[in-house]
Amino acid sequence: MPVETPALELRALTKRYDDGTLALENFDLAVPAGCFFGLLGPNGAGKTTLISAICNLVRVSAGEVLVFGEPAHTLAARRVVGLAEQDVNLDRFLTVEETLVYHGGYFGMGRSDARRRAAEMIEVFDLRAKAKVRTPKLSGGMRRRLLLARALMHRPRLVILDEPTAGVDVELRQELWLYIRRLHAEGTTILLTTHYLEEAEELCEEIALIGGGRLVARDTADGLRERFDAASLTEVYMKTVGAGRSDEAGPVAGDGAAASAAATGAGR
Ligand SMILES: Nc1ncnc2c1ncn2[C@@H]1O[C@H](COP(=O)(O)OP(=O)(O)OP(=O)(O)O)[C@@H](O)[C@H]1O
Ligand SMILES: [Mg+2]
Repeated sequence: MPVETPALELRALTKRYDDGTLALENFDLAVPAGCFFGLLGPNGAGKTTLISAICNLVRVSAGEVLVFGEPAHTLAARRVVGLAEQDVNLDRFLTVEETLVYHGGYFGMGRSDARRRAAEMIEVFDLRAKAKVRTPKLSGGMRRRLLLARALMHRPRLVILDEPTAGVDVELRQELWLYIRRLHAEGTTILLTTHYLEEAEELCEEIALIGGGRLVARDTADGLRERFDAASLTEVYMKTVGAGRSDEAGPVAGDGAAASAAATGAGR
């Protein structure tokens, strides 16, 4: 049986920032196409750095990132990824509608297709009343909705959501997940980071725990609970990457990636 190209492949990815901070160390990860994948870890673990490497927003120090088999820096890779960033970065001079249509343009959508899609996104994310309003006039939650709408504009095959529900009200959170689940059901690969562990447990088919820039464990929520003899994902988290545990414990998973991280241990 032919093996399908993974949506995402990180090979020995290392990122050291210019000031010397080692944010990712020898990180291996493959996310199968169509998977709803969770990336969990404490503040500063390296999640956003990892995402930035996938989206070609940071220069990697070593290693390789492939998106559906294409190197992350290529146009082919960039076109199939949609990113809703953790930091809300909207152009303050554009309206909601313009934000979406222009984004479509950057990704090669025709004007009428972009307009149609923008209208659809405005509907889905309940931004109709604000369609002609410039982004600084949106509430915090509305900005986040627009960020998501923008990430989905060009119908990406891999959608990356970096803490998408921070600051989003309960109702929208429910609707958002309904929509993301539908996308996933249609075959879109989802990479999610969140600090809401219950959310991850409910949504993600597979989860990677990351601590101190290293892959600590990767499995289904059930698998993780079993392996760490824990009643909940929160307990797994606390036992592995929570409260500074990652530095003392080091990689503990039984998979190859973590073992190789443990074996190298260099560079700090
Ligand atoms: N531009 C930068 N220059 C130097 N260090 C950076 C830079 N961006 C991030 N870092 C550092 O890299 C490490 C990983 O940061 P990153 O933003 O990837 O963490 P994170 O897992 O996304 O955390 P959070 O849950 O808080 O969003 C941290 O030590 C952070 O201070
Ligand atoms: Mg982050």
